[in-house]
Amino acid sequence: MDESAGIYLNDRVVPLAQARVSVLDHGFLYGDGVYETMRVYGGVVFMMEEHLARLENSASLIELRLPKSPRQMKLAIYETLEACGHKDAYLRVTVSRGEGPIGLDPELCPRPTFFVYAGRLTPPSRDYYEEGITLAVANTRRNLREALDPQIKSLNFLNNIRAKIEAKKAGAHEALMLNHRGHLAEGTTSNIFFVSEGALLTPGPECGILRGITRDTVLAMARRMDMKVVEGEFTEEDLLGSSEAFITSTIMEVVPVSRLIGAPSHTHTGIRDFHGVGDITKALMAEYRKEVFSYVQNTRAAGPSIWGFTE
Ligand code: PDD
Repeated sequence: MDESAGIYLNDRVVPLAQARVSVLDHGFLYGDGVYETMRVYGGVVFMMEEHLARLENSASLIELRLPKSPRQMKLAIYETLEACGHKDAYLRVTVSRGEGPIGLDPELCPRPTFFVYAGRLTPPSRDYYEEGITLAVANTRRNLREALDPQIKSLNFLNNIRAKIEAKKAGAHEALMLNHRGHLAEGTTSNIFFVSEGALLTPGPECGILRGITRDTVLAMARRMDMKVVEGEFTEEDLLGSSEAFITSTIMEVVPVSRLIGAPSHTHTGIRDFHGVGDITKALMAEYRKEVFSYVQNTRAAGPSIWGFTE
């Protein structure tokens, strides 16, 4: 437990001991709610506008009315950060349907629960970046798009959790899920990229992935660096035959994959060892760090707009 964490519940910052949500909250009962994870660098929330826009989108896809405007959410975020003892922080904004009688009907809940958490950031170990991680293809599939749109960053992560359990059993750091058609989709909390014949490849949105903000940043960087970039449908064999692979997420940034373990249920199960971190991965890792650095500098240089207000 991070005692120095900042917590904002509904309308104010509260001490951890008072940060309590009802057992009848539909976020707890049914996973009915949405959230965003952001990374804070030296007091600056990286890509805050993009994360808040994605939160709005997730909420609108489940017809959840956010209880605060973007401006009010930013204020709440900065109040929480002030209450938190860290300048480099992990930040999470969660909005659930709120408290209501048992039953699935959202109208049972008159008031959504709004919660911001800012706490100590535990970045992945340096080894991850220097040596790479092991990624295991899971038997658990990514949710079918038609069943639960992956653009909804919802409080229900059960299939990703099942995939994570599989990865741990296989001795891997992260699981890679295929979609229902057997194409590559994404990690449990990350997107996947790989390199083949010099081109940068990644599953497209049609594969049923969450469009990661880090993924979008990496795609924009790669295009700017004149790399050949392909978003499309790929198979496990494509990945096993690649020369480099890496995953991306807000918290982890760009992490190289050093070993890939094929899905246990597949006849073509294989292990692919990448020897060292590839050049394209290295270039993108370095460029991402630069991107973060200049974002932080620009946000600070803009003075009071560190609070991110446009009006
Ligand atoms: N996870 N795919 C899934 C299923 C995710 O949950 C996430 C984010 C990503 C990467 O998205 P981004 O680059 O915007 O962080 C991809 C966050 C970190 C989380 O769940 O806490």
